Amino acid sequence: MRCDRLWKDARLATMAGEGPHFAKHAIVEGGVIAAAEGRILYAGPAADAPAFEAAETIACEGRWITPGLIDCHTHLVHAGNRAHEFELRLAGASYEEIARAGGGIVSTMRATRAATEAELVDSALPRLDALLAEGVTTIEIKSGYGLTRDAEMKMLRAARALGEARQVRVRTTFLAAHALPPEYAGNSDAYIDAVCTDMLPAAANAGLVDAVDAFCEGIGFTPAQTARVFDAARHLGLPVKLHAEQLSNLHGAQLAAKAGALSADHLEHLDADGIAAMARAGTVATLLPGAFYFTRETQLPPVDALRAANVPIAIATDCNPGTSPLTSLLLAMNMGATLFRLTVDECLAGVTRNAARALGLAGETGTLEPGKSCDLAIWSVERPAELVYRIAANPLHTRVWRGLSTDRETLA
Ligand code: NIG
Ligand code: FE
Repeated sequence: MRCDRLWKDARLATMAGEGPHFAKHAIVEGGVIAAAEGRILYAGPAADAPAFEAAETIACEGRWITPGLIDCHTHLVHAGNRAHEFELRLAGASYEEIARAGGGIVSTMRATRAATEAELVDSALPRLDALLAEGVTTIEIKSGYGLTRDAEMKMLRAARALGEARQVRVRTTFLAAHALPPEYAGNSDAYIDAVCTDMLPAAANAGLVDAVDAFCEGIGFTPAQTARVFDAARHLGLPVKLHAEQLSNLHGAQLAAKAGALSADHLEHLDADGIAAMARAGTVATLLPGAFYFTRETQLPPVDALRAANVPIAIATDCNPGTSPLTSLLLAMNMGATLFRLTVDECLAGVTRNAARALGLAGETGTLEPGKSCDLAIWSVERPAELVYRIAANPLHTRVWRGLSTDRETLA
């Protein structure tokens, strides 16, 4: 059988199959992967492989191959930074106090409105490159710092442009319901009107929106307002996700699950009813340990209960200037294990198969299975646990996106 590329002498963590992700069937010693036209033809034991005639053969010398990593929750596109607010927090101010005093998301909004689309792309590229250097092949990028129709669309165009500038799959998420812009002070319902009837339809009609998100929180929007945003998304045929239960429990996860959300994210204050609703709906729990760490949160997400209910768990960087200025998905995995007591298997599934599901991409990427995009991360490690165990180390050997090694082209 002909193929374009064949990776041989590899050890595979395919992340495929049901149940515990690191069960025997997901691990292949003496493995090969064959790809044609950017898709996986075969990933499994060399002993069972068809006789491939490959245009190019790559010797992996026993290295481990995982699916390319997926960062399924980021605010990668934004202008400026919030180092000053970090100093205020070190001096004792809380995230909510800073937000209520006109800082927080609104301060990044001012900088983002003032930036051109090209400036947004330029400032996001080093962050994107840091993630790609760790084997990320798919990334979600949210709007939410423009908070006008044009500024939100500018952010989403910048996100799409990043997907052109680098060899990576970008999924955009419309997050205009992130904070109340000052021009609507005291009139949040009118802002939600604008989001639902003007901003979202315009961005969606321009092909800029893959999913719709909101910040359901005391300093964000109410469950009733969130439900209106979800309705508008449904009318446009767009999937939804939600920043839920980060600072308090407004039962956002239940609302999201009832709307068939792809994911509910943060979830430190999630309760049993929320977990049950997510389990019923198949909504992914996206945990964001970087934000937990950086805000010095003490309320842990209910990991044991999520596990017991078989809710799929994803992990993401939440890369943003306010609560998680983090551009390392490997460090997010380490934090997931250290702070949330996730297992190595859960951390790996959280940045591969479950992250793909959180983006509606389960059929496209996230496991090493025939038919999927050939997105690979090839690692110089002895065992996959090293990917989670090390702090600020990067054992990536080669990143492969759609069947092509992209390390030299984009990262040299
Ligand atoms: O995911 N929670 C709301 N949104 C971001 C924070 C954004 C910001 O502070 O700029 C988050 O934590
Ligand atoms: Fe976020």
